[in-house]
Amino acid sequence: MENLIIFNARVVTPVGFSARRGGEMGKLRIIDNATVEVTDGTITYVGENRGENRDGYYHRYWHYNARGKCLLPGFVDSHTHFVFGGERAEEFSWRLKGESYMSIMQRGGGIVSTVKATRASNFVRLRSKAEGFLKQMSAMGVTTVEGKSGYGLDKETELLQLRVMRSLHNDEHKRVDIVSTFLGAHAVPPEYGGRTDEYVDYLIREVMPCVVQNDLAEFCDVFCEQGVFSIGQSRRLLLAAKEMGLALKLHADEIVPLGGAGLAAELSAVSADHLLHASDADIQAMADKGVVATLLPLTAFALKEPYARGREMIDAGCAVALATDLNPGSCFSGSIPLTFALACIYMKMSIEEAITALTLNGAAALNRAGSIGSIEVGKKGDMVVLNTDNYHFLPYYIGMNCVNTTIKEGVLYPTP
Ligand code: NIG
Ligand code: FE
Repeated sequence: MENLIIFNARVVTPVGFSARRGGEMGKLRIIDNATVEVTDGTITYVGENRGENRDGYYHRYWHYNARGKCLLPGFVDSHTHFVFGGERAEEFSWRLKGESYMSIMQRGGGIVSTVKATRASNFVRLRSKAEGFLKQMSAMGVTTVEGKSGYGLDKETELLQLRVMRSLHNDEHKRVDIVSTFLGAHAVPPEYGGRTDEYVDYLIREVMPCVVQNDLAEFCDVFCEQGVFSIGQSRRLLLAAKEMGLALKLHADEIVPLGGAGLAAELSAVSADHLLHASDADIQAMADKGVVATLLPLTAFALKEPYARGREMIDAGCAVALATDLNPGSCFSGSIPLTFALACIYMKMSIEEAITALTLNGAAALNRAGSIGSIEVGKKGDMVVLNTDNYHFLPYYIGMNCVNTTIKEGVLYPTP
């Protein structure tokens, strides 16, 4: 944590301490020739330029001249699976030949093949691989990332993945904060083949209590999908999680329209994610209940699936967040620039809406809209400096990085 004073910036930020919904998503505050002051890692002033040596006060601050550059809130990647063993490049090549993601999973590949590699790995190897991803994310402007377990599917390895995330979060030199999610219900492991209900019982009785007692996760998520966990099984698991104090997320309506988005509304989940096939009624239910609709356009791109209906969701009054879904199977990409471009080009979101979706609404999807996601007094000094004073470069630079420097709690990390 540092004291930092930024001069001459073009501040571009959503405003508020909760998710922005519907028409509010496109409204940004833009301040030219701005000063932003960060004291002990927290924003203490945002507004018109202040004199550099106001009473000598700023001698205790690092100075940064942002003339000709935009300053945005740090990006929040609110849905990833960045801790895992192994790779699945051969699976990718099968998909290129026409095999589907679900058929690979049904014949014992997919998530379960990463489970084998993760069980065979160890703390040190999982941690150093995950740390490599965090460095790349930071260079693209990410200051907070959500990470999920779900490649252990047994008590020992699920806890191992969550401990890796905790250790990365507690690292005093970290560039990215980590919010952890328990996703034991990501797939049914081979030892429970054909016994999904018993596996759900095992998660509720044996794994979840350990996760909660050791304070290893804030959220519980489930892959609610045909042939994986049904609506009934997902509801049972999530109700137990809620009872134990976890907040809720769902992988919903990713491959088929099963009704996961409606379940998210019924249970007042914090977010429902993917939503490629969410129905009109369920979209309206999410808007009414304030469930954040987290869209992951890189996954639709990689699986050659239709994009989620971002425009319709915003028009229906939803709070939409954008995230990468970085994982070794459906989407091996943590590219923030490509996420921006796909959201604007294919999901018909405006550039302003996409910025809100990757900052304040991403924060809301992690229950953190009160402390991150906008450049406002009282929030963390987590910000992104662009190479340009024109924020339209974010989607216009397709898949190319226009981040000059990432600022984490007032510490500057120039993009390598
Ligand atoms: O969000 N769909 C389930 N989970 C991930 C994919 C995980 C994997 O393939 O390893 C997703 O797409
Ligand atoms: Fe996912």
